[in-house]
Amino acid sequence: MRRRASEAGTPEISPQMAAMVIPLLMWFSSMVMMGVTGFPTKNDNFEELQKQLRRNLLANGLGNTPPMGWNSWNHFSCHIDEKMIKETADALVSTGLAKLGYTYVNIDDCWAEIARDDKGSLVPKKSTFPSGIKAVADYVHSKGLKLGIYSDAGYPVMTRALMKAGRPIFFSLCEWGDLHPALWGAKVGNSWRTTNDITDTWESMVSRADMNEVYAEYARPGGWNDPDMLEVGNGGMTKDEYIVHFSIWAISKAPLLLGCDVRNVTKDTMEIIANKEVIDVNQDPLGVQAKKVRMEGDLEIWAGPLSGYRVVVVLLNRGPWRNVITANWDDIGIPPESVVQARDLWEHTTLKNRFAENITATVNSHGCKMYVLKPIS
Ligand SMILES: *[C@@H]1O[C@H](CO)[C@@H](O)[C@H](O)[C@H]1NC(C)=O
Ligand SMILES: *[C@@H]1O[C@H](CO)[C@@H](O)[C@H](O)[C@H]1NC(C)=O
Repeated sequence: MRRRASEAGTPEISPQMAAMVIPLLMWFSSMVMMGVTGFPTKNDNFEELQKQLRRNLLANGLGNTPPMGWNSWNHFSCHIDEKMIKETADALVSTGLAKLGYTYVNIDDCWAEIARDDKGSLVPKKSTFPSGIKAVADYVHSKGLKLGIYSDAGYPVMTRALMKAGRPIFFSLCEWGDLHPALWGAKVGNSWRTTNDITDTWESMVSRADMNEVYAEYARPGGWNDPDMLEVGNGGMTKDEYIVHFSIWAISKAPLLLGCDVRNVTKDTMEIIANKEVIDVNQDPLGVQAKKVRMEGDLEIWAGPLSGYRVVVVLLNRGPWRNVITANWDDIGIPPESVVQARDLWEHTTLKNRFAENITATVNSHGCKMYVLKPIS
């Protein structure tokens, strides 16, 4: 997501701009209040949470589950204009992606003129956004979607400006992970980038997954780690690799922001990004980010708890050959005596076998298996 813009510093915004412009990429929203701030532990009671909430600048109640939508950067970079933004909003609705939860339409960098106006406000680029951002926002809103927009870094000042906008605005902050934003991001934003920008390659994708995993403890409803937007559908990885990408982002409770041209998606891409079972893992109300719980060479096991005493596990093969991977209950947080039922989220089947002690699968090179395990006895 996003280059380091040439225009640094804190954007100043007029009241109108505050209502429609979202520096550092914040998204209009009216999601339900569940603001959790600071880093409360399991033992914190409600009062403690309330106290932490008051201490925080940002208490907008948004981001109860990771945000979902689309962003222009990964596919289009600076080649954006109001026509394609509107067409993208249309496509999100006509493909059914909006119904699955992809509701943010985020305009990334390059929408503005380089120079501000004489009041110091940002101005939409005349050549590409001749109708202005408000017209685009109105159009996107008329489709039942929300508009997001990018600006450059400038944290507490922007948070305060957003708090004054008169309605809650999701604040997705990005300083490319330089200053460990997971340690302080929840006080000022709803999500924070933990990495520098992703590119459409296997190496870039898995290295971002790794960097983001380090901060798993800090993710929670209202404040999420963000390993950057999805590359699924952009052509630089195989289908198996994109399935790994989507699976790891889903269990990591990462924002699911499509980065392809949703006006023109292949059947294979649609199969991945519209997998409701995987989306449901991402949007699970428990909101706990999965961790890498075991690693043997190129073979990895990622797992995390879900609501209803369920566990999601991803068996990931990063190596060059097909291989067998076994996840043991004590690694993935299932009580030793438990017998579980396994749902394969990519095959869309519930396995006939019941599993005790472990689950084993043969996994393709640069592929994964993703199961939801449900204790049955
Ligand atoms: C649609 O996507 C295909 C690849 O999947 C590409 O070859 C084609 O140029 C795209 N069409 C447009 C209009 O972008
Ligand atoms: C997996 O569990 C089964 C019992 O369900 C056990 O017989 C087997 O040895 C275990 N395999 C591994 C690799 O731990």
